[in-house]
Amino acid sequence: MSTAKIEDKKITTHTLQEMKKRGEKISMLTAYDFSMAKILDAAGIDVLLVGDSASNVMAGHETTLPITLDQMIYHASSVVRAVKRSLVVVDLPFGSYQGNSKEALNSAIKIMKESGAHAVKLEGGREVKESIERILSAGVPVMGHLGLTPQSIYKFGTYVVRAKEKEEAKRLMEDAKLLDSIGCFAIVLEKIPAKLAGEVAKEVDIPIIGIGAGGAVDGQVLVTHDMLGITHEFSPRFLRRYMSLYDDVKKAVGNYISDVKKKDFPNSKEQY
Ligand code: KIV
Repeated sequence: MSTAKIEDKKITTHTLQEMKKRGEKISMLTAYDFSMAKILDAAGIDVLLVGDSASNVMAGHETTLPITLDQMIYHASSVVRAVKRSLVVVDLPFGSYQGNSKEALNSAIKIMKESGAHAVKLEGGREVKESIERILSAGVPVMGHLGLTPQSIYKFGTYVVRAKEKEEAKRLMEDAKLLDSIGCFAIVLEKIPAKLAGEVAKEVDIPIIGIGAGGAVDGQVLVTHDMLGITHEFSPRFLRRYMSLYDDVKKAVGNYISDVKKKDFPNSKEQY
């Protein structure tokens, strides 16, 4: 008999689907580097998303559009090296899958081969159906992403709540059912009304993971740097901050600078 505790078992796409069936909520956070991923994994997070939000958070770009496939692989491989238990999902970046399904497949295979990640995520519904099917046919698990899809920000024009109108809500529900029927293992719903998100979670069999989509879904995802208060200038309504690291780190660094300037650091015990 295995002595591994349930909590120590590696999370798979199957585990997430079992969690939905049991009504157990799924926890997901973003990770882009080895050190942070090691902490998040040790804390027991179910899914680590190597999000293309790395473009904003790590590189300082205004949108997610500039990040490249090779840069995503660099972040993903750093995260994979840190992880013992969590499922690692990697975003296919803008421009790596929209051209055609062969391009999408090649990008997904490159990510899986070069990073060692467990699954990919891509944005869109019916317009990326063929690409998702082709990636799935190669045995690569796919997570969908509907609602506010940041790679289309120049089409939307703003980051406001999506699918408030009947027509868009209907299209979103259809797309979610489509992603479920073709074999996606989960879907992220970003910034849509809580009621609609709850209805989608009821209608589809696969887990729905929300960000700004209320509590009636199967799990939650946040950008780690937002929930830790590192990106302190970003305060959407859906964000709960668990720390104020911007302030704490600034204060600690201020203390270090002052200790160096006043020749207090290093002291006699902090040298050889
Ligand atoms: O890139 C990202 O961080 C994401 C989450 C917001 C879901 O896609």
